[in-house]
Amino acid sequence: MTKVAGLDLSLALSRAQFIQRVREAYYRDEDEAANRRRALTRVPLHVLAVTSEIYPLVKTGGLADVTGALPKALATYGIETHTLIPGYPSILALARLHPPLMEFDDLLGERATLRHLEIDGISLFVLDAPTLYDRPGGPYVDENGYDHPDNWKRFAVLSLAGAEIAAGALPGWRPDLVHTHDWQSALTSVYLRQMGSPVPVVLTIHNLAFQGQYAADLLPRIGLPPEAYSVDSMEYFGDISYLKGGLMTADHITVVSPTYAREILSPTFGMGLDGVLNTRIDRLQGIVNGIDNEVWNPSTDPYLPFRFDMKSLRNKKNNKALLLERFNLQPGDGPLFSAVTRVTWQKGMDMLAEVADEIFYRGGRLIVLGQGDHAIEDALKATAARFPGKMAVSVGYNEPTAHLIHGGSDSIIQPSRFEPCGLTQLYAMRYGCVPVVSRTGGLSETIIDANDAALSARAATGFQFHPVRPEGLRQALRRAADAYQDKRKWARLQLQAMRADYSWDRSAESYAQVYGRLTEQRFQATH
Ligand code: ADP
Ligand code: GLC
Repeated sequence: MTKVAGLDLSLALSRAQFIQRVREAYYRDEDEAANRRRALTRVPLHVLAVTSEIYPLVKTGGLADVTGALPKALATYGIETHTLIPGYPSILALARLHPPLMEFDDLLGERATLRHLEIDGISLFVLDAPTLYDRPGGPYVDENGYDHPDNWKRFAVLSLAGAEIAAGALPGWRPDLVHTHDWQSALTSVYLRQMGSPVPVVLTIHNLAFQGQYAADLLPRIGLPPEAYSVDSMEYFGDISYLKGGLMTADHITVVSPTYAREILSPTFGMGLDGVLNTRIDRLQGIVNGIDNEVWNPSTDPYLPFRFDMKSLRNKKNNKALLLERFNLQPGDGPLFSAVTRVTWQKGMDMLAEVADEIFYRGGRLIVLGQGDHAIEDALKATAARFPGKMAVSVGYNEPTAHLIHGGSDSIIQPSRFEPCGLTQLYAMRYGCVPVVSRTGGLSETIIDANDAALSARAATGFQFHPVRPEGLRQALRRAADAYQDKRKWARLQLQAMRADYSWDRSAESYAQVYGRLTEQRFQATH
């Protein structure tokens, strides 16, 4: 038997081609292939994804966009994903229309029902545990914006249910691989290893700033032994960290851009986990996010009163006029800048509040749609009050308005202090907005700064600044506003940005390769 290292999944394959390709890759020897054919019934690969958010059902940020889009992109590689998600109220209303798949009698003392729901081509396993998830507020916070006090339990139960399903609790279905996302599902691999299950696990970190850090005395209450409180397990500066547990037990760790993968190995970006990540460097990989080109498509977007593409870019002006009117901003010839974002220190919105005046001195307007840190929201509102008719702040979360803002703005600002990947700048480019971004994480590798070389090579797609300080942002805003005055130059930038391809195809291939390698290794180990 000749084993071919690594599967080449470079092209989108039909299911039959995929099966054939995998067979050839595993076994060159025909007899061997015949002998092992039965084992290959696990192709196409079955994946259990475990997540706390998924678009279009529940979303607080980019995590949901990724978990919603990735399964569809992976399907072209013969990978079938079922996604386990908590039964939040918005999901339960639909899921309870279907009969239960199975009952869990005791998930950390809770009873739960597993239901199946298919929506927009996404297959969901919904964990219906009303005492934990069927309550007002968002996935993580209550109606007043405070963390649900039992988040430690809510996401431990989600992970435990994931582990039990992966280990075979669901009659008739068992995944070849589990894909977890962020701290909320990171305990899945901890539980699986406790159970002695060898199912491979990929953990994707979307944001290292959120770690699921709790007091160590919770360990028995989440069903883990005292040994889990050790430096090479979940111990984290005297507490326990769910994310660290995942990092120590997952077979492969991905983060959402190669630059962020490098950055988090340093104390500046490592958020206290850089030491751990350095010990796991052999399994750490950056895979840049893609975007769902169907959901974010300016020529078909149902939220845009005036749709457009590269050939009909002038329609964008109508959306702009509408936006200015809707946000009570004075009309004018200058550029319309916008930010659609969580209003937090990470996203640099305090810096924007400080230097937004640069936009108004240059005849521009600014719209901010977002919510988060109340002090920064207030700082933005205070700036808006100083420049009536020029700046509007809409505190809240609104998907249709987010689309309209991309459809009508000239530029989207994203001055993040750190940014694992960032999706807003990718949506911006597709909608002909020229992004102004800090040079960090995924922003640094998805936007090409409009310097002289990039401009003459017709490659520039936006404006970057570094170091990430208010003066840097001010200067970048000035550069963008000046460029806007040169209509031909601006139109070129818009078209170059629109041509950039950040569809999921490339990145899905990288995930397919990771999945293929891990399942192959497991297969070799067990046969
Ligand atoms: P993050 O996940 O760190 O918040 P991303 O750029 O990866 O940042 O993704 C943010 C996602 O959330 C995008 O889809 C963006 O359009 C959306 N979003 C952020 N804030 C709002 C808001 N206030 N209203 C609507 N959509 C928002
Ligand atoms: C996180 C990150 C963001 C990334 C998103 C999706 O929320 O902050 O940069 O794009 O996850 O991976």
